[in-house]
Amino acid sequence: MSCKNTYITTPIYYVNDVAHIGHAYTTVIADMLARYSRLVGRNTFFLTGTDEHGQKIEQSAKQRGRAPQEYADEISATFKNLWDDFEISYDKFIRTTDNEHKIGVQKAFEVMMENGDVYKDVYSGNYCVSCETFFTDKQLVNDEFCPDCGKTTSVIEEESYFFRLSKYEDKLLQYYKENEDFILPRSKRNEIIRFVEGGLNDLSVTRTSFEWGVKLPKSANDPKHVMYVWLDALMNYVTALGYGQDEAKMEFWPAKVHLIGKDILRFHAVYWPAFLMSLGLELPKHVAAHGWWTRDGQKMSKSKGNVVDPKEVADAYGIENFRYFMMREVPFGQDGDFSQKALIDRINSDLGNDLGNLLNRIIGMSGKYFEGNIKGADIEKYYASELDEVNDKLGSIEPLLYEMQIHRFLEELWKPLTVANQAIDRYQPWTLMKEGREEEAMALVGLIANILAKVTVLLHPFMPKTTDKIAEALHFSIDTPAYEKLIKNKGVLEDFVITKIPPLFPRIEEELLKDDKGAEEQKQQEQEEDLNLITIDQFFETKLKVGTVVEAKEVEGSSKLLLLQVDIGEAAPRQVVAGIKKYYSAADLLDSQVCMVANLKPAKLMGLKSEGMLLAAKDKKGLSLIRPEHPRKAGSDIG
Ligand code: MSP
Repeated sequence: MSCKNTYITTPIYYVNDVAHIGHAYTTVIADMLARYSRLVGRNTFFLTGTDEHGQKIEQSAKQRGRAPQEYADEISATFKNLWDDFEISYDKFIRTTDNEHKIGVQKAFEVMMENGDVYKDVYSGNYCVSCETFFTDKQLVNDEFCPDCGKTTSVIEEESYFFRLSKYEDKLLQYYKENEDFILPRSKRNEIIRFVEGGLNDLSVTRTSFEWGVKLPKSANDPKHVMYVWLDALMNYVTALGYGQDEAKMEFWPAKVHLIGKDILRFHAVYWPAFLMSLGLELPKHVAAHGWWTRDGQKMSKSKGNVVDPKEVADAYGIENFRYFMMREVPFGQDGDFSQKALIDRINSDLGNDLGNLLNRIIGMSGKYFEGNIKGADIEKYYASELDEVNDKLGSIEPLLYEMQIHRFLEELWKPLTVANQAIDRYQPWTLMKEGREEEAMALVGLIANILAKVTVLLHPFMPKTTDKIAEALHFSIDTPAYEKLIKNKGVLEDFVITKIPPLFPRIEEELLKDDKGAEEQKQQEQEEDLNLITIDQFFETKLKVGTVVEAKEVEGSSKLLLLQVDIGEAAPRQVVAGIKKYYSAADLLDSQVCMVANLKPAKLMGLKSEGMLLAAKDKKGLSLIRPEHPRKAGSDIG
């Protein structure tokens, strides 16, 4: 981080669900980096927020019978509250439903149009609502499923504006080549290069099939389109700085780092840079992608009921202990596992034994021998090698943070604690006192206190309140001048009298979170799994619609099939080939209403495309179509 201005961001979180450990992890890392940047004296801006538009949010709200805005307000507030609990020191919490954001996105769209990077065409392709992403036929798994989340995709054919992504292929490759640490960890870089080398299709950046999104700018004069949610969302990184309006804060651009999870790397390392190139803006310095969290070795999912609720963990074990655990336990970029056992081990061992005990030892020794007085004067005289070792170590670990080697940074930060503990065991203040070498004993206590103070300064961004308590006991405040004095200039504290404080990390003997599932509940879940029950979200993946048959005829040469045109409220009727000729004639069906599965991948029957399936009940006596009891508008949702 060479520049004075530093801009750090988290992803903006979808408001279709409450926060879990994955969200907390990214946000806590970003917070730590922002705090570190402020500590070392940089002018820092830290952004987080919520991503509130798109089909997924519209559907989630609808399923709950809520208006999208009202629903987004509620979930967005739960994120904000959680981040306040987690001591997240954001400078701005952006919501994509903020007016300023919407204006900024429209402005960007206009600029892209003016540059000739946006054109109108018809999109036909496979769409995964859950990932809000289009996929080519080649990318689908088994011709149907989303390669990212495994859910069913639906075929969409609609008018759309396209962004000329293909135009930026070479420029992107060039940029990756010239900026080897643009994508962190570097191991992820090749993945992205391969993806871009495989060829980039132009990207559909507007939609007409739903309404919950940012409208196109007035100049486009096309009110039925809304922006593709990823274009809308990615723009938050600059609209938060006033892009397209009051641009004073744009001095923070380009971002030092966008922190994200590995699943959204492609959006940040391919689409976002291409958008920025089109807008004539600089590219972020780094995009850093972390791995995936599991719980007790298992993928987290709502149906398994094993999603780690960050608030619950923090309430039981302490917010800062949990922050430390997340950043220490897992090498950035790799997948990690949450278990209470691992968390307890970290608290008892790293925090309790190594850090907390050292403070207790200084309080004990200085109280016993020197009435709590701690002095720095003779440290150099007796313990220069220990002090130098610690100063050199702490003066050289900062680059680890910029390479996102966060767990290594903490590992190295702990080494001075070992130096301190070993110095006590080796020089034994009690022996020194017995031998009348009081000055040496005093210098030893001073050495230990100063090592602790120095470690505490660099630990502050990870555990702000805990380190403030330690600093208070050592009579100093953690701020930029303290950083400069103790770390940069390798100085020592002024003389002081230590304050006794209660132990900071009481030992944890047993798991504090009881498995929330009792035996009864567990049994019920197993039974549900046996019955193959699905969740409400899974049910809503099937789009059911009321349709009116506007044309019906027999399929030539087939004893079973009828060829129907069914109006389901779209621009053109859907063609459905139905195997019901034995039970209904074409005339029976004309102008009648049916219920239809509207998001099935089209199939071909006797060479005819079928774009839906009618619902019917069948038993030994025959087949009966399922129809609305009273006529409903064509296209009405069923569910
Ligand atoms: N709204 C988009 C981001 C837009 S940024 C311009 C989004 N939101 S999200 O809420 O679905 O996910 C946000 C972050 O949570 C992502 O970085 C994702 O990687 C992370 N995680 C979601 N589940 C996770 C785990 N199980 N483990 C770790 N992180 C995970 O994507």
